[in-house]
Amino acid sequence: MTKLKIAGSSIIVLAICCMSCSSGKKITETPTSLREAFKNDFLIGTALDSQQIEEPDPRAAALIPLQFNAITPENSMKSEKIHPQWDKYNFDLADKLVAYGKKHDIKINAHALIWHSQLPAFVRKMRDADSVKQFFTNHINTVAGRYDGKVFSWDVVNEALNEDGSMRKSIFLEKLGSDFVTQAFALAQQASPNSELYYNDYNIEQPKKRAGAIALIKKIQAAGVRIDGVGIQGHWKAYNIPLDDIEKSILEFSALGIKVMFTELDLGVLPHPGDIQGADVNQRAAAAPAMNPYVNGLPDSMQAKITRGYEDLFKLFLKHKDKVSRITFWGVNDSQSWLNDWPIRGRTNYPLIFDRDFKPKPAYYKVIALKQGK
Ligand code: XIL
Repeated sequence: MTKLKIAGSSIIVLAICCMSCSSGKKITETPTSLREAFKNDFLIGTALDSQQIEEPDPRAAALIPLQFNAITPENSMKSEKIHPQWDKYNFDLADKLVAYGKKHDIKINAHALIWHSQLPAFVRKMRDADSVKQFFTNHINTVAGRYDGKVFSWDVVNEALNEDGSMRKSIFLEKLGSDFVTQAFALAQQASPNSELYYNDYNIEQPKKRAGAIALIKKIQAAGVRIDGVGIQGHWKAYNIPLDDIEKSILEFSALGIKVMFTELDLGVLPHPGDIQGADVNQRAAAAPAMNPYVNGLPDSMQAKITRGYEDLFKLFLKHKDKVSRITFWGVNDSQSWLNDWPIRGRTNYPLIFDRDFKPKPAYYKVIALKQGK
């Protein structure tokens, strides 16, 4: 039995004899990391912000390259950060992320080129269509052009759909018309011919929104424009994971000839305000003690739901590993998760697979065990 140090915590690596052990030929071990466990199945990603990219915490710095082989910038490539003024770009953190990926042999999924949220103030104030069109074109050319081939892929358009599958009201829809999604992909294809191009959204596993996403993707394809994949965000509740719809989505999206990814996976456990259905960062609800029940720790019953949820999901992902190309967790550990502050600020949530001390949670071991001896 060997003990392996992972970011301050010890993981026991069991050397398990398989059938052929008696002949002394073959010994199979429990995989030592997520990245290693699923290396022949799909990429395993996480989201990084400045706190992780700049490596101030040695525990995160050790854990990330060991466990993950894909990274999405949590905020640093969003337009409000990377393009704060009409003629001013800020590439500092995004460049550091790209260098980080190169150093650790980690693929970068850049996120998100065209999105109605986290827009710079100068765009939010725009009233005329010409200015929006110019911003749209300059932004895609400059940002996607700079990272062509340096990033593995781009979320070209994020969250263009409503829950009923219709196009979401946004400055882009209003000023550029419903073709803006196809136009964004066409521009990205020119500016970044060496990176894969994806459509990304939440709740597109749900039937109506899924139908809207399929129609959108078909429209891009019918225009002769390249789209390489679709990202299902995967901000689900640990106590309510729509496994059947997820499986149908994998099958229906991949039937379009594109890759399917789960791009922002987290399993929240906190009570959810009833009127918020999706993961729209602009929606907010008021704080109340009853909405923040696990400040002092998580009951075992809830921990078990998270464990079961991740196990069920990874079983499904493995069943369709020929269609699913990446699973990205939205953050490294529970303290980094955006779900501590959304849709209610200042809560204590437990949605990821590493805890606040970077220790693997029971879900980690269950997920890894799916590959034990394989
Ligand atoms: C979130 C980040 O995690 C937060 O730090 C930020 O304050 C708001 O955005 N869907 C997306 C992500 O596509 O970019 C969002 O990320 C979460 C929902």
